[in-house]
Amino acid sequence: MHLGRVVGNRVMEIRFRTSHAEEVQVGELLVVEDGLSEVKYLIRVMDVEHGADADREDWITREAGVILESDATDGKYSHAEIKGRLYRVGVCSPLGYTTGSEFKKAKSIPAHFSIVRRAEKEDYEFLSRFLGDIQVGRLRSGDKVIEFPVGISGLSFPHHIGIFATTGMGKSNLMKDLALSCMRIRRYGFLIFDPHGEYYDGGELSKKGLIHANLSDSLEVFSSRELNGPHNSLRVAANEIEISDLSNLYEFTQAQLECLQAAQYRYGDAWLSELNTNDVMLIFNDLGQRFHEGTISVIKRRLESIFRFGLIANDSKLSITRHVIDCLHNSKVVLIDTSNMYEAEELLISTVLSRAIFDKNKSLYSNKMDFDQIPPVLIAMEEAQRVLGQAKGTVFSQIAREGRKFKVGLCAVSQQPKLIDAEIISQFNTLFILGLADRKDREILKNSAKQDISQLDNEIQMLMPGEALIASPFTPFAIPAKIHLFEDYVESDKTKDDRVNIERGNGKQSADFRFY
Ligand SMILES: Nc1ncnc2c1ncn2[C@@H]1O[C@H](COP(=O)(O)OP(=O)(O)O)[C@@H](O)[C@H]1O
Ligand SMILES: [Mg+2]
Repeated sequence: MHLGRVVGNRVMEIRFRTSHAEEVQVGELLVVEDGLSEVKYLIRVMDVEHGADADREDWITREAGVILESDATDGKYSHAEIKGRLYRVGVCSPLGYTTGSEFKKAKSIPAHFSIVRRAEKEDYEFLSRFLGDIQVGRLRSGDKVIEFPVGISGLSFPHHIGIFATTGMGKSNLMKDLALSCMRIRRYGFLIFDPHGEYYDGGELSKKGLIHANLSDSLEVFSSRELNGPHNSLRVAANEIEISDLSNLYEFTQAQLECLQAAQYRYGDAWLSELNTNDVMLIFNDLGQRFHEGTISVIKRRLESIFRFGLIANDSKLSITRHVIDCLHNSKVVLIDTSNMYEAEELLISTVLSRAIFDKNKSLYSNKMDFDQIPPVLIAMEEAQRVLGQAKGTVFSQIAREGRKFKVGLCAVSQQPKLIDAEIISQFNTLFILGLADRKDREILKNSAKQDISQLDNEIQMLMPGEALIASPFTPFAIPAKIHLFEDYVESDKTKDDRVNIERGNGKQSADFRFY
């Protein structure tokens, strides 16, 4: 039994008739065939309507009146008699068509009364080469999950990734999936800053974390709090911190900024440690008595808070930056747990490490042999709107703008994409769109997505936790996915998943990785 027959066509909209009882859902993927040629159209349901075979257009409304009347009196209205006249109409947008293995944008329309049926696994085969080696979930048709792995290519890392959703819709879960896939295939470097302490062991008893993958060779953990397992302590060197880093985090007056600059001029590389350790009078004199003692005291109090956690080492040999970069270049997942820190210190650590990676890759760029050796690296930042807002000249916006060339990408996680600078958001080529309640947030993504997702607004509003649309220029259309629940994925048959992922990545991947 076919699902339906095509009743109306425009190049951008295909309508089909189906039975009055058929539960067609928004977001379902369907196939249209005329039964004669090889051409298969793939379409997505955008809306569902009621219809009836009747002489008058308002028959349905009138008949509803008759039924109501009957409800109120004898209740003897016979539904059986009218059922044959009722039907539903699926309003769909064409995703494209295939003739064998090629997939093309629809430039024409299927024949009259073409058959409409639900898509089966084989119908999606042509997609597999676009779906990359980093598995995150399975294909979704409406709310039905199809046994067809979906992911992204690690080669898309330097083209930046955005993960956007209202709180509770599954951003953190998706991040853990990405990390786990990276740990399993060991092809890419992935740095995750975790301000909420949820990635290491899941953060709560009912959840799992990266440690449960039992892939200690693929994971390096740095933390400023005690963790129940192997980890390194978190430390950067004072001389890795720049004045602009501090001024992005704390409000400084003009006088205080000038004082910081004077200190840098006077003390050189060691300015931050000197300011922290020397007493006010000594600094006052060292800076030629040009700054008020009060100004110096305020600065010192600010610095106390960053030095408080033992995060800042005076000796640059104690910094973790080299170790972190080595791990990333060795295709490991690096987890930086900053969950016991205040926001300012957390951002300071993220800034220093991100800049070190960017600078390192930039310096390798001139040596082609060395540069070819390093894998693409992705830096994931939670609550990214904090560092990618307007007019913020942070290293993160620099990476968003220039990272591509140097194999460094940014993975911005945010529940409020509208707060991210529009120009920066347009740099994000791969968008994971999960449920987004706010209309303005959806507008922003619609305008910056590299695929036309304007017709998907209905669907985006209906997404349940873990349901996503993956929009990128590397696939022929935005891919509807059900993201793996991490707790299941980490238990899943690793060898089977690996095989799918590795096959997808092998050689074929770079050939197929292109802008669609
Ligand atoms: N892919 C998924 N499949 C099933 N449930 C999910 C999925 N992703 C998230 N959830 C559910 O939603 C909850 C919140 O997810 P989380 O990733 O913490 O959201 P966010 O980081 O966006 O606030 C999870 O604890 C889980 O119960
Ligand atoms: Mg979260």
